[in-house]
Amino acid sequence: MTDLILGQVLSYSGDPFAEGLSAARVITHGAVAVERGRIAAVGEAATLLARYPEAHIHDYGRQLISAGFIDAHVHYPQTAIIASWGKRLIDWLNTYTFPEEMRFNDPAYAAEIANRYLDLVLVRGTTTVCSYATIHPASVDAIFTAARSRGMRVFAGKTCMDRNAPLGLRDTAQSAYDDSKRLLEKWHGVDRLSYVITPRFSPTSTPEQLEALGQLWREYPDCLMQTHLSEQTDEIAWVKDLFPQSRDYLDTYEAQGLLREGAVYGHAIHLTDREKSRLIEAGASLVHCPTSNTFIGSGLFDMGLASQLRVGLATDTGGGSNFSMLRTMAAAYEVAQLRGQSLHPAQLWWLATQGSARALRAEDKIGNIAPGMEADLVIIDVASTPAIEQATRRATDLWQQLFPTIMMGDDRAVTEVWVGGTRLAD
Ligand code: GUN
Ligand code: ZN
Repeated sequence: MTDLILGQVLSYSGDPFAEGLSAARVITHGAVAVERGRIAAVGEAATLLARYPEAHIHDYGRQLISAGFIDAHVHYPQTAIIASWGKRLIDWLNTYTFPEEMRFNDPAYAAEIANRYLDLVLVRGTTTVCSYATIHPASVDAIFTAARSRGMRVFAGKTCMDRNAPLGLRDTAQSAYDDSKRLLEKWHGVDRLSYVITPRFSPTSTPEQLEALGQLWREYPDCLMQTHLSEQTDEIAWVKDLFPQSRDYLDTYEAQGLLREGAVYGHAIHLTDREKSRLIEAGASLVHCPTSNTFIGSGLFDMGLASQLRVGLATDTGGGSNFSMLRTMAAAYEVAQLRGQSLHPAQLWWLATQGSARALRAEDKIGNIAPGMEADLVIIDVASTPAIEQATRRATDLWQQLFPTIMMGDDRAVTEVWVGGTRLAD
């Protein structure tokens, strides 16, 4: 059975940061043919209608067909504490985050939040997330079970912490290694699921724990490793106290084998020149979390790095203040403006799709519309509210038409979502 999806098709032939705007491809009267969960063909509607006369047609008129959004750094266990008032990073962790993460000791609560979280993001057009769980192994089972039942490609791992966290939220170097290994063997590569080795950040891991996770990563080199890097200046000062021998924050990871291709660092705002050049040399990925960086007061990410290494985009739920990747693109635009850069809508959209896929080293599977890619798609109404509609009336190209949705859009702009070639029921 072939599904033929008609609309304005947006795809990318390359990276608009490196290659300019010609990397974006728009087919105004376009079509995407989907077979057995994958994209079979992309082209002009007239051509594909002739090629697939038996296909089941889904005609979205002038609406936009895009790859689904990929949120490259989230904490699904923080769903219920999103938008909590008045704290900066370390206070915010102690006041809101750790007490909430303690509740994941109960597998039933973990399952409830995992399901709630994935439903919240799917209606916002996010088809893949890369999530931290809590220290509890059952919290990893919960997110993978919820993702599997929805057919989603999801990355996740047990968050490891063996110091500077409440007693109920601490593992040890050995148990972090053992639990992570067991979960990795249970889930990595099952359906569309990938295990990610996940030390939370250097302040909550002893060098022994980081070393044990570095050892695990050497045993399973095709996994990703995710952690936090240089988010707030107080945090960086704390790392300096905790690791007096280290050259800088990145060195606390590098010294334990936690810097190479497949390393995914969230935030990475206040980097030294040495850290930047080592990240580039090592082929690491960074994830920009703009609503979180403004909400928790962390700082302004340097988007100039996007032409030098893999940069993804993320909400950082629940440090971020919104589940929506549209709102996240808007915040990325605003943060870049504050640094004197104007990101083009083609670059913002790319960051939320293929940029994040590249950061997760999954660009051969997700994040673009091309033959052979998995059919995770989002259908966008570019005139979803009266305020947005009136702002699009003078648009002369897709970008002018789309930018008001990037800046003002929410879940009302997301008409439909396809996951692995299946249209989600309303
Ligand atoms: N650094 C360590 N843990 C966290 C977290 O949960 N959220 C954010 N934003 N930063 C962190
Ligand atoms: Zn985070």
